[in-house]
Amino acid sequence: MFSGIQPSGDLHLGNYLGAIKNWVDAQHDNDNIFCIVDLHAITLPQPPAELHRRIRDQAKIYVASGLDPKTTAIFVQSHVKEHAELAWLFNCVTPLGWANRMTQFKEKSAEVKGQSSVGLLAYPMLMAADILLYQTDGVPVGDDQRQHIELTRDIAQTFNHHYGEVFKVPEAWIRKEGARIMSLQDGAKKMSKSDPPGCVFLLDEPEVIATKVKRAVTDSGRDVRFDVERPGLLNLLTIYQLLSGSTRDQVEGHFEWQGYGAIKRELAELVV
Ligand code: AMP
Ligand code: TRP
Repeated sequence: MFSGIQPSGDLHLGNYLGAIKNWVDAQHDNDNIFCIVDLHAITLPQPPAELHRRIRDQAKIYVASGLDPKTTAIFVQSHVKEHAELAWLFNCVTPLGWANRMTQFKEKSAEVKGQSSVGLLAYPMLMAADILLYQTDGVPVGDDQRQHIELTRDIAQTFNHHYGEVFKVPEAWIRKEGARIMSLQDGAKKMSKSDPPGCVFLLDEPEVIATKVKRAVTDSGRDVRFDVERPGLLNLLTIYQLLSGSTRDQVEGHFEWQGYGAIKRELAELVV
């Protein structure tokens, strides 16, 4: 099992529920490698001192979240030069059209108004190198990384076709629930560090977390159900379900006849 997170922002509940918690839950069934992908982070400009701090914080959070450093390799991507070397080989076998198709590239280059670096375009080939270097079976990630894993599989197959069976073709391990935690301010947008009021950071103070959860935007319905038509409530119930380790039926039963205020109060406590 291999996965990584960029030290490009402080980690939040979406990273935890979509990625880190799944790593922790599966760590005893696999050989694990979890990376702090700093070379990916610098595909967009990073203030050097901030980047140093975040790399260290991220390592601490990996361990504090329950990854056991005795059984799990945790390291910084740029410390292992082979990631960059293999990425170069993949740059040379990947058609430009495949890289241009990546939605994350399109979104991020739009954010910097087309002023993106060559590195931002080459990002997915570096990610393929991370994964394929270790003959990885599974890559536990959130839903937004599905396309990058598909590309990684295509690169592995293309390389193997030309040069013999060199790389194992990995699979994305994406959980059904929690793969897309939404913003607390807008149930249609994914939780992201670029939207602090809708985002619970793992290092937020308890009072800040409680305030963010209590101010979460929900509809004005009454009955408590996991309902895709009510994305704000669905998101809160999903977070509750994952953190409490219950089933959907149990959560609905637990909150039956309770108002949204009560749900938010209890959820705030659980998240803290
Ligand atoms: P990033 O912060 O984009 O480097 O993402 C690191 C990991 O967290 C990846 O596996 C993402 O898929 C996952 N992730 C990021 N945001 C969310 C979210 N809102 N919900 C679920 N997973 C997420
Ligand atoms: N692209 C991933 C993200 O933004 C981070 C990443 C880099 C990664 N290399 C990886 C994830 C290898 C899984 C495996 O979330």
